[in-house]
Amino acid sequence: MKYCIITFGCQMNEADSDLMASLLGRAGWQACEAYEEADLVVLNTCSVRERPEHKVFSLLGEMRPWKQSHPGAVLAVSGCMAQRAAQEIVRRAPHVDIVMGTGAFHRVEEYFERAREGRRPVVALDMDEDPSAARARQPYVGAQHAVPLRAFVPVIRGCSNFCSYCIVPYVRGPEASRSPSEIRREVESLVARGTREVTLLGQNVLAYGRDLARVPQASACTFPQLLLDLSRIEGLWRIRFTTCHPRDVDPGVISAMAEIDKVCEHIHLPIQAGTDRLLREMNRGYTADRYLEVVGELRARVPGIAITTDIMVGFPGESEDDFEKSLRLYEKIRFDGAFMFAYSPRPGTKAAALDNQLPRSVRLERLARVIEMQNRITIEKNEAAVGEEVELLVDGPAARGEGLLAGRARNNKQVIFPALGSGFVKPAAGFTNPAPSPSLPGSLVTVRLTEAHLWGFSGELDAGELPEASKPAPLF
Ligand code: 5AD
Ligand code: SF4
Repeated sequence: MKYCIITFGCQMNEADSDLMASLLGRAGWQACEAYEEADLVVLNTCSVRERPEHKVFSLLGEMRPWKQSHPGAVLAVSGCMAQRAAQEIVRRAPHVDIVMGTGAFHRVEEYFERAREGRRPVVALDMDEDPSAARARQPYVGAQHAVPLRAFVPVIRGCSNFCSYCIVPYVRGPEASRSPSEIRREVESLVARGTREVTLLGQNVLAYGRDLARVPQASACTFPQLLLDLSRIEGLWRIRFTTCHPRDVDPGVISAMAEIDKVCEHIHLPIQAGTDRLLREMNRGYTADRYLEVVGELRARVPGIAITTDIMVGFPGESEDDFEKSLRLYEKIRFDGAFMFAYSPRPGTKAAALDNQLPRSVRLERLARVIEMQNRITIEKNEAAVGEEVELLVDGPAARGEGLLAGRARNNKQVIFPALGSGFVKPAAGFTNPAPSPSLPGSLVTVRLTEAHLWGFSGELDAGELPEASKPAPLF
């Protein structure tokens, strides 16, 4: 049997898709790329803005002829949009067999069987079904799967913040942390099979453990404690995490970033808006000054830290003055990078009910302006880093460019560089070069940044001091 999972949205969705894939893999299923060849197709969807929802409906429309000519194939919609709009999906796309919400996807095989038996559509929206319970029973990745060099590990699911524009608390339910021992076991098992970097995932990882503290029999743990605990796993080199709510950056988090070597110098800290009035309307729980203070503390305690953010423009009632003030704040902060969005009203949220919605043209015009500003800053910051030597974890061949390899610096910036032969690479400080060749994924190498781009850098391996005769020949 073959399955095809098509994923929309955030890294949490990617992680959920991976989990589904590993559950199906363990049960003997094969993955395939083209949905036309699959016995089971899952669209794992996103509701955070209108656009990804439109994309799903148009893909469902496109799939209709295939579905009609393959009556045995099963079509499932999972994730946030399934949770938010199950009725609408069943009505507008009657060829969908399964609609499974954010807490139900781990039962995909059971629903598949039901749909095959003709008991369709199967609609499963129970959010109390905790996916982490399934994880506890089923180790994350089946033995038949290769583990990634850089793995993503959900540590907390859901969100209890209720920012006024955001659908997430409605579709993913309240914060639910996985137990520290379960997370540790998963990371240990990944590392034992070759993973060298983990990114801990959550809608707000800094809330990790808050809900555990309320459960009498659960083991108490905070996010900084989790970082320290995971940092003791031998063979794990780098720890990252995302996303962080600015309100929850406290001295413990900053100290953990400053003091635990394996924790990389990067934080994704969504600011969303830059005036106190807008931040209040959004229910963000911090002021512009407080955000600046947090940035100042992070930069003082964690040298070389990259700070990236999410920015939303065109929130209901955002005046030209609000927008310009926000731009000035972003200029002052100088983010290393930003994901930028035009506000998109989400049904059921508080902000969607406000009567001062801005026209689309205004939202899009402001989006273009903030993107232009941020791109300039990103490139300026990258240009200022040219000449520096950085430690890279080599991912493998670059997506484009023959003979080029790609890797990530500790601050999460991407670097591509020409591959050389084996054995002549200066290991990064504190490490013995772990892989025999810098052309192998998983090497930790030192690279000098030679050219800045919007997406990162070009660089070169530091092989300069080798005697001419032993200089390696290019690999490609
Ligand atoms: N409209 C536009 N962008 C949104 N985001 C969340 N909700 C909305 C919305 N209704 C953005 C925020 C968040 C990111 C994941 O998506 O910037 O940080
Ligand atoms: Fe989209 Fe949010 Fe759901 Fe992720 S959690 S898929 S960003 S709605």
